Amino acid sequence: MSLKIGMIGTGWFADMHAKLLTQQEAVEVVAVTGSTQEKAQQFAAKLPNAKGYGEVEQMLDAHQLDAVYICTPPFAHGSFEEQCIKRGIPFLVEKPLSSEADLPHKLLQGIQEKQLITSVGYHFRYMDGAERAKQFLAERKLALALGYWMGGAPGGTWWRRQERSGGQFVEQTTHIVDLLRYLAGEVTEVYAAFHEGILSEQDPNANVADAGTVTLKLSNGTVATISNTCILPAGDHAGLHIYTNAGKLEISHGGVKDFTAGQIVEYLNKSNPYEKQMAAFLHAVRTGDTSRIRSSYEDAYQTHRVTMAANQSAASGHAIKL
Ligand SMILES: NC(=O)c1ccc[n+]([C@@H]2O[C@H](COP(=O)([O-])OP(=O)(O)OC[C@H]3O[C@@H](n4cnc5c(N)ncnc54)[C@H](O)[C@@H]3O)[C@@H](O)[C@H]2O)c1
Repeated sequence: MSLKIGMIGTGWFADMHAKLLTQQEAVEVVAVTGSTQEKAQQFAAKLPNAKGYGEVEQMLDAHQLDAVYICTPPFAHGSFEEQCIKRGIPFLVEKPLSSEADLPHKLLQGIQEKQLITSVGYHFRYMDGAERAKQFLAERKLALALGYWMGGAPGGTWWRRQERSGGQFVEQTTHIVDLLRYLAGEVTEVYAAFHEGILSEQDPNANVADAGTVTLKLSNGTVATISNTCILPAGDHAGLHIYTNAGKLEISHGGVKDFTAGQIVEYLNKSNPYEKQMAAFLHAVRTGDTSRIRSSYEDAYQTHRVTMAANQSAASGHAIKL
């Protein structure tokens, strides 16, 4: 029997996920909820057999869905997850969990009570390079990590608004925070300093910080900094460099470079991490076996706490212990 999937959100990433899903055998995207019914119907019309809805309750009442994909911006979370939890429907939600500090904790309680299958779109975890780095690091002693997300500010009305996106560290650099947690361990303390004023001068709609640098302590003693900027005229680079007793590892979108004893060996990413993320989630929905999911809501909540602590630290000027 085909799995029946509902999508919430009709933007860039809902489209990416819907295209991947419709290429699968025994998977159908049967329903879409948008911020308006018109947008949802336009999106649904591009799919083989889907209907569009303006309200999530209408979609969930009309279809017996096996799973839901939530692909809305950071400010538009809460009621979608609550509906899925109430009805016991597994969901894959795009990162970040929210632009608000407290909402994910409340949702997590419901997810745990229902033991609901969840997956969060931290796709770096599914990259071949991250997998290989994890194997290398199991044999090495870590001391330091340096993370980066250097680029420009995406357009669109929500990304550049702090109250809508949470700012670059929460919305984008969260991938690097999550990769740090996945590869190096849990974060226990966060101190952040942000620069403001350049982007907001260029664009009166913008109120997010231009740049920031965040110092992190990990429970195993590793120290890290993760820096980001969104004022560059063009994309620069994003990634995580990890320093160990056996040399340095550089993980990026392209793969992983291993610098050991004067040699550099590069391993390029070959598989599509979004496909692997989808396959792990669909396998869990079909079988109940969640072991292939690398980022559950519960795990992603810890990344959320770190990025929210960075905002809190930058605002207060104090280090935040988690
Ligand atoms: N994992 C990744 O690599 C990756 C890449 C891109 C985007 N994302 C994430 O996906 C999410 C969506 O990003 P996007 O680029 O698709 O944004 P987008 O602006 O292209 O689309 C957002 C969609 O959400 C809809 N929406 C907003 N409020 C809604 C509401 N209340 N009810 C129903 N629909 C609503 C909008 O109408 C729009 O269709 C973001 O959290 C972003 O961080 C993840």
